[in-house]
Amino acid sequence: MAMSDVKILALLLCATCTIALAFTDGLLPNGNFEYGPKASQMKGKMVIGHDAIPEWKTSGFVEYIKSGQKQDDMVLVVPEGDFAVRLGNEASIRQKVKVTKGMRYSITLSTVRTCAQEERVNISVAPDFGVIPIQTVYSSNGWDSHAWAFRARFSEVEILIHNPGVQEDAACGPLIDSVAMRPLFSLKATNKNLMKNGDFEEGPYIFPKTSYGVLIPPFIEDDHTPLPGWKVESLKAVRYIDSRHFAVPRGKRGIELLAGRESAITQIVRTIPGKMYVLSFTVGDARNACEGSMVVEAFADDDSVKVEYESKGKGGFKRAHLRFDGVATRTRIMFYSSFYTMRSDATLCGPVIDDVKLISIR
Ligand SMILES: *[C@@H]1O[C@H](CO)[C@@H](O)[C@H](O)[C@H]1NC(C)=O
Repeated sequence: MAMSDVKILALLLCATCTIALAFTDGLLPNGNFEYGPKASQMKGKMVIGHDAIPEWKTSGFVEYIKSGQKQDDMVLVVPEGDFAVRLGNEASIRQKVKVTKGMRYSITLSTVRTCAQEERVNISVAPDFGVIPIQTVYSSNGWDSHAWAFRARFSEVEILIHNPGVQEDAACGPLIDSVAMRPLFSLKATNKNLMKNGDFEEGPYIFPKTSYGVLIPPFIEDDHTPLPGWKVESLKAVRYIDSRHFAVPRGKRGIELLAGRESAITQIVRTIPGKMYVLSFTVGDARNACEGSMVVEAFADDDSVKVEYESKGKGGFKRAHLRFDGVATRTRIMFYSSFYTMRSDATLCGPVIDDVKLISIR
């Protein structure tokens, strides 16, 4: 066997091993669309038939896009690998995956809008679905990753990604670059920390090569949260960030509060009336050139504290506390940023919150 054959064999083996793993954590099979249609299955950029893209079924006006390709005057850049698909009006792509029945999963997809019109992506695993608005761009290059979670009712489910748009130009519509999935584990509160997932280590898959984290949409778009324990209870998304690309105060994951009071995270905790509690947490910045005076407000029902943080955009953090008396058997813990903050390229950014702890004291 020639050396090049060995390499090809190794590549093939590796391709199958990632596919086997993809069902539990990572890219879906051909989840980044690097395997494309044969020349005979394409007309220009348009994909012909339903089975042209390996592992996927397509319907409607689906285009297969190579990075660097031009659309009108715009050069399309694909963040991961060289290829992406574009979903025209009412077009969709779908794939069946084997899952563990009863388990919750989070899907992460990276997408970008291509025209000025309002674009949305409808992602569903029957009977759950979430319509993710992609109008607001949160990253500098226009691409964002979005998370959406579902609970598996069967041991095999079909993931459907659909463009519900009806634009005048059928070639408008979102580009989809990568789709990944990861099971979500529920975490229990302990007597050392009454918060669940207080350090945000459990959450959606983050593409290792993308540097813009993952947006977690507000729960109006999502029945099952991709961030176990927490809810994004507001109008706008929060960003789930990784220590590979951002400053994260503790562990590998944290939350960037992106949109002032319009991006709040909450968790309901069990409390005992008459007991005294201390909520402690870290406020910092993600080292993403998000500069200025920031204020994070933390609430335990009606008690609250404002934490000022001066960000130079270079990473840094401080610890803060809120003492409160338990008055009910349940207390709503909430965090938001008091103000909007923007980077010099006009994308939204904000303070980071991490390592949230709640203990009862005597
Ligand atoms: C999203 O998809 C689901 C499942 O196909 C469908 O029931 C729902 O009506 C869709 N919503 C929109 C706004 O297209």
